[in-house]
Amino acid sequence: MNEIKEDAYILAIESSCDDTSAAVMRGDVVLSNVTASQAVHEQYGGVVPELASRAHELNIVPVVDAALKRASVTKEQLSAIAFTRGPGLMGSLLVGVSFAKGLAASLGIPMVEVNHLQGHIMAHFIKEDGVEHSDPQFPFLCLMVSGGNSQIVKVNSYNDMEIIGQTIDDAAGEAMDKCAKVMGLGYPGGPIIDRLARQGNPKAYNFSKPHVPGLDYSFSGLKTSFLYTLRKLVAEDADYVEKHKEDIAASFEATVVDILMDKLYKATKQLKIKRVALSGGVSANTALRQAFNDYAKRYGWEIFIPKFGFTTDNAAMIGIVGYYKYLDKEFCAMDQPAFSRTTI
Ligand code: KG4
Repeated sequence: MNEIKEDAYILAIESSCDDTSAAVMRGDVVLSNVTASQAVHEQYGGVVPELASRAHELNIVPVVDAALKRASVTKEQLSAIAFTRGPGLMGSLLVGVSFAKGLAASLGIPMVEVNHLQGHIMAHFIKEDGVEHSDPQFPFLCLMVSGGNSQIVKVNSYNDMEIIGQTIDDAAGEAMDKCAKVMGLGYPGGPIIDRLARQGNPKAYNFSKPHVPGLDYSFSGLKTSFLYTLRKLVAEDADYVEKHKEDIAASFEATVVDILMDKLYKATKQLKIKRVALSGGVSANTALRQAFNDYAKRYGWEIFIPKFGFTTDNAAMIGIVGYYKYLDKEFCAMDQPAFSRTTI
């Protein structure tokens, strides 16, 4: 094996759900981050696993090729390949995992396996040439909100993370997507709710908030309260949702943000940590970002909000974890299988 270099070129591959992504890193600096999204799922209102794995098969070679070309790096210059081993959809993961194994074996370079959720959290450490950046210092708290997870994580180091609170049912993004579906909006619903909410009144409707002890979350009660409220209104006027979609979206979004921020605030008090980061797909949400800034001003938090390109699934976040593991020579064997479920 070649010697470990701080400015090694690492190729990263992410294929856990419906985005095929490849990135090239030079050390902790991202040189390229190419993602092919899969529009095929829109017509079904959610990700269809079999279609996702087929699309990954079509996308993986052109996406990796584009990432290498954009970075002006040849595959012979690579020192390691990092890949998402899980959690995610098994069929989707298998495409990225098998591709990474095949390429690493043919190039004779080591592989680094990466947990997708750690990738979302470590996205805060990705650097870009010519862009000012400051890493969060350990320990910090991270609100990890995506389509599949809603967690508060205490991050002690890049590979030492503790979940101190998590959803007991739906994830925040899942609730956004399902309620958007009830409103007859497209998929994924989170960004559509975000866009509509900017023109609406967040106090127009009252949706119920959960009473879950400790630092855990719950979104299924809110989903039910949302469904029943809308059903009643639509029974009186079939066009009600269409006429009031901005206010409905704004009130729903404000409830989700309140639920998320309330427990996060409790966590900062309990653990006496004021360094707070946001990550996962829902961290793109305008109201959540605004709430983070407001809490930072009010309570003296030092906050870390990722760049939009690093919030949703992308390979650069896999590359940054891969880089730290590469420095520690934490390589993985060829027989490591993909895994669909895990915690961090
Ligand atoms: O992290 P992610 O890309 O995929 C995983 O679940 O791993 O997160 C996707 C989720 C979806 O539920 C989507 O609706 C939500 O993130 N999302 C948003 C926004 N952008 C994406 N939710 C609210 N506002 C947004 N702007």
